[in-house]
Amino acid sequence: MDSDRTTPATQADPIDTLPPTFRWGVATSSYQIEGAVAEDGRTPSIWDTFCRVPGAVAGGDTGDVACDHYHRMPQDVALIADLGLDTYRFSVAWPRVQPGGRGPANPAGLAFYDRLVDELLGRGVDPWVTLYHWDLPQELEDAGGWPVRDTAYRFADYAELVFAALGDRVKTWTTLNEPWCSAMLGYAYGDHAPGRRSLGDGIAAAHHLLLGHGLAVQRLRAAAPGPVELGITVNLATADPATDSPADRDAARAADGLGNRLYLDPLVHGRYPEDVVDDLARQGVRIPVEEGDLAVISTPFDVLGVNYYFGQLFSGVDEQGRDRDDDGRPVQRVVRRDLPRTAMDWEIVPDSFTELLVRLSRDYPGVPLVITENGAAFDDRPDADGFVADDDRVAYLAEHLRAVARARSAGADVRGYFAWSLLDNFEWAYGYDKRFGIIRVDYDTQRRTPKRSALWYRDTVRRVRGQR
Ligand code: FCB
Repeated sequence: MDSDRTTPATQADPIDTLPPTFRWGVATSSYQIEGAVAEDGRTPSIWDTFCRVPGAVAGGDTGDVACDHYHRMPQDVALIADLGLDTYRFSVAWPRVQPGGRGPANPAGLAFYDRLVDELLGRGVDPWVTLYHWDLPQELEDAGGWPVRDTAYRFADYAELVFAALGDRVKTWTTLNEPWCSAMLGYAYGDHAPGRRSLGDGIAAAHHLLLGHGLAVQRLRAAAPGPVELGITVNLATADPATDSPADRDAARAADGLGNRLYLDPLVHGRYPEDVVDDLARQGVRIPVEEGDLAVISTPFDVLGVNYYFGQLFSGVDEQGRDRDDDGRPVQRVVRRDLPRTAMDWEIVPDSFTELLVRLSRDYPGVPLVITENGAAFDDRPDADGFVADDDRVAYLAEHLRAVARARSAGADVRGYFAWSLLDNFEWAYGYDKRFGIIRVDYDTQRRTPKRSALWYRDTVRRVRGQR
């Protein structure tokens, strides 16, 4: 018996087993909230360009204004502090601090992050910097983008330049956010900037992103005068077979391989998974590994950021019962389960989160974990005052925090949890339509109103810390 659903209300909530040292935070990213895309020397990123491609982003939305965070930063930091959170994970916009992606830093762009870091520290909130959350300078895309090896070196230079400015105060650094999304959604499937559709480009991008991560870890470690926590954030979704049939099991293996192990294995074990290399070879794609790359990619790091939103079930046969598609490739079909879903149509499966975290501690031992993103979009309905009684989001967050607590009890070394997201924001190809914030943003007035989930989160953190 391990399920809470049968636990009498008098018994402690598993969330309360999270230790007092647990880190509690919220996350955002630069392009999704900042706006001010042409201010203080910032040049376009691939997302500025992609937003202008007809049909690429729902409603023709862009990040031009977003949450206007660039101009409202102190107010937003105050919101974080008022929630009693100890960590704020934000990303730095590469084209703001190094316009064009090469050459010297742009002092005016860096000054914004300098002020942000000071504001956070002044309010008792630890800054957690993500160096790359998808806003590649357009000039680097014009030179070939992530499928080109040189971009990894450009990223390492940029990382060093940001570290030189903020490394005296920022103690935790994430190199990349979700390399799978950058590589596959951006270069293989065309859903994200820059919108290419080539598996070969996607895989080359994945390798160069990982190489850039390893180079950046080495550079920052060398530049750090004292202890610093370095890491990377990956998005992981569980891939389970729909049945025990060999075809379904192979479909789940392949999905887990391309989505999860293609990143985790080189980062932690210094090798690409052979089954994935074989799958790719059958599609005529080779990972462009050069001598020494895997040693760089597996440079030891301190914390693995895990972003988890959903799990999926896979079948190796299509609805007609065929196990090959028209091109002769093995079928890999997502099977919809009869489960509650978010507004993204993502299945809500907190148990898979526990499984995932336990599996990470088994297959990749010795790697401390922090949940750098978890949250949900729902169709929020504000009342006349702009307040959203988002009980669905509260339930999602509570169930997933319980999943984290259970994973910890089962031995997973999870040290913190950051809700995605502080604010409703620009949800990439979905534009402003999908709201993930625990704080509502009225885009007409830029007014921020904490939702019930924000108040619940604040109270939960207080209770777990024993502050109540
Ligand atoms: C993640 C992204 C983040 C946000 C959430 C919903 O994949 O890292 O920017 O869009 O999904």
